[in-house]
Amino acid sequence: MTHLAVIGCGYVGGVSAACFAELGHTVDCIDVDAERIAIYNTGRSPIFEPGLDPLIERGLSNGRLRFMSSYPDALDAEIVFIAVNTPGSHEGAADLRWVRDAVSSVSSRLRPNSIIVNKSTVPIGTGDLVEGMARRSGDGVISVVSNPEFLREGSAVKDFMNPDRVVLGSNDTCAMERVAALYAPLGAQVQCVDIRTAEMIKYASNAFLATKISFINEIAAICESLGADVKEVARGMGMDARIGGQFLSAGLGWGGSCFPKDVRALAHMAAVHGTHPQLLRSVIEINNDQRLRTVQKIRTAVGGQLDGRRILILGAAFKADTDDIRNSPALELANLLAFEGAEVAIHDPVVPAARIKDQAPQVQVAASIEDGAIGAHALVLATDWTQFLEFDFSTVRALVASPVFVDARNCMDSKSVRRAGFDYFCIGRPSLQLSASTIDPGPGELVLSGSVGS
Ligand code: NAD
Ligand code: UGA
Repeated sequence: MTHLAVIGCGYVGGVSAACFAELGHTVDCIDVDAERIAIYNTGRSPIFEPGLDPLIERGLSNGRLRFMSSYPDALDAEIVFIAVNTPGSHEGAADLRWVRDAVSSVSSRLRPNSIIVNKSTVPIGTGDLVEGMARRSGDGVISVVSNPEFLREGSAVKDFMNPDRVVLGSNDTCAMERVAALYAPLGAQVQCVDIRTAEMIKYASNAFLATKISFINEIAAICESLGADVKEVARGMGMDARIGGQFLSAGLGWGGSCFPKDVRALAHMAAVHGTHPQLLRSVIEINNDQRLRTVQKIRTAVGGQLDGRRILILGAAFKADTDDIRNSPALELANLLAFEGAEVAIHDPVVPAARIKDQAPQVQVAASIEDGAIGAHALVLATDWTQFLEFDFSTVRALVASPVFVDARNCMDSKSVRRAGFDYFCIGRPSLQLSASTIDPGPGELVLSGSVGS
């Protein structure tokens, strides 16, 4: 078993450390955020991530996990993972301040023959920078390996333990073999390449997934004009193994801590190096438009103007099963509606009110769906939480000022919303956008064999 260290214990670092401990390694976890570390040391995770708490508790009690808020004088670990944040700068480039700080703190404390593994998503060429920094401050030979992470928030533990692939990039084959050995119990295919290629695989993967979503959102807009049902279109496309059914859900557009910054960073890198990244720019533009199209849909649904209308947004997180609100489409939508004079309330089952207020100061935070529904002119589903999918909206029908339900994630059962007494609006499915009085299945909902028709 190997002695590891993980620098930066957020969504990636916390999960990686806990999973490596579960695989039998000893992991020293260092984060400069003392508040996060204090919560880990109580045996809980400071982030909402299904399945993570039991691993933290077990790792602490069997002594394989140790959490620290400052760097010890020397690092005993043989392999050190960097998993610090790399947010986008104003211009779109990834801001490497935290990576530089982490590498400089680590390099001078490492023992000879250690390996620095970069798990943060970093611009192509950062591996060279890390190698240069490590060479300058370390006494012995330190190798650098790029090991981009592909986990998703909300299913991070499952994704880490069942990776589709492990990508490693280095000039040092021996170092790659030592890192590959850590993943051997997971049985995933390992791709070994040079550092720059590994760094590029990460950006290209995120950009491709974002492209799929923007593609289906553009198709949704066309479906809306031409009377087709985008959900069935996506299902029909997805059955073609060359296309695949994942990441073809039309809705509010992509958000989160990574797609927005990573697509912009790749486009920025391309432009700075003389390439014209026109597809990436369109992918971003379609995504921005998707928020505006949704505002337009809500405006129309509440009678043509938003000023003075009360809107309840269901969900603040950027997707279900996470408390992360970085670049959340739900909050962007809330802010756009508030900008047009709407009185906006938000309810989220997990995200604390103070964090919502921090990102969207002009919105109210509703403690429950019932509280937020009082006097509302529209309920807008913006995050696909199961709690909303399973909620009986007939219980709030009498509380609202007008019975309008906008399903901006296309994930509700349209019939049950209409049965609850609401007019139903969604994305790219014009035949389902019917009033509460029309509860018979419309043509888009005919349940033929094998059809989902929700
Ligand atoms: P995060 O903000 O949740 O966590 C980063 C942590 O690093 C913070 O707790 C911060 O305090 C700590 N930190 C910053 N500088 C430090 C330093 N010098 N020393 C010690 N700790 C330091 O970020 P995240 O979401 O976990 O993302 C980390 C990286 O992984 C990013 O590059 C991101 O693009 C990439 N990534 C994220 C995900 C995801 O789902 N969030 C998935 C794959 C890759
Ligand atoms: C994404 C990638 O899926 C991970 O592989 C990657 O490691 C990670 O980014 C990262 O680099 O941080 P994540 O952001 O956690 O993971 O969440 P996703 O499930 O990919 O969703 C991203 C956004 O796209 C969300 O806003 C989601 O609601 C939206 N989405 C997703 C759609 O609008 N339609 C879809 O069909 C799928």
